Amino acid sequence: MSQKIWALKSGFYQIARKNPLSYFFLTNERKGLKKLISELDISNHSAILDLGVGRGNSLSLLPRSEQIISIDNCFDMVFRTRQENPDLLFIQADACALPFADNYFDLISCVGLSEYIQDINNLLNDINRVLARKKSVIFTISPKNPLTFLRFLLGHKLYPYSDREICNLFESHNFIVVDKVKTMLQFQYLITKK
Ligand SMILES: C[S@@+](CC[C@H](N)C(=O)[O-])C[C@H]1O[C@@H](n2cnc3c(N)ncnc32)[C@H](O)[C@@H]1O
Repeated sequence: MSQKIWALKSGFYQIARKNPLSYFFLTNERKGLKKLISELDISNHSAILDLGVGRGNSLSLLPRSEQIISIDNCFDMVFRTRQENPDLLFIQADACALPFADNYFDLISCVGLSEYIQDINNLLNDINRVLARKKSVIFTISPKNPLTFLRFLLGHKLYPYSDREICNLFESHNFIVVDKVKTMLQFQYLITKK
């Protein structure tokens, strides 16, 4: 069901995000993400993974390196975003069952995804597995608020976490919180694997 909604949304996702209200919130979110990304130490040879790439909004903020892989479990999202970024690698895959070797990536971005994942432990386990030691993740959550509820009305099943709940989960999955930004709709984290 959820994948069908994303497939439908993929055609007009970028236009919908240009309405003044979305634009206002997204600008605020991008500012927070840029701050966290500016704290990263990424070389040309780094392997970077973007989870739930959608139409490439968070991807466009990530540092460029020789190897950037983006995944999404919605074929239409992958197809459309790949057409606009022919030089990058896109794979249709589930963020909770990543088709990559252990300890492979130097940076993982998980922006705007966690609230759609039924069992966040599966997501954090797999991120931990494919991320190299001492390397970083940009991770966001959308806590409960009226706009999150609006997404629920639009047909999405949502699994919102609070700041405290997600920080406890980071701790139990072997991550340290390095920095955190609160935007109007999200908590955004820079975390590293111990
Ligand atoms: C809010 S959208 C796009 C987020 C994107 N990172 C951005 O900044 O615009 C979330 C995306 O996550 C994808 N998604 C949802 N559940 C997923 C899963 N289990 N595995 C991979 N992608 C998933 C959806 O298809 C959708 O494209």
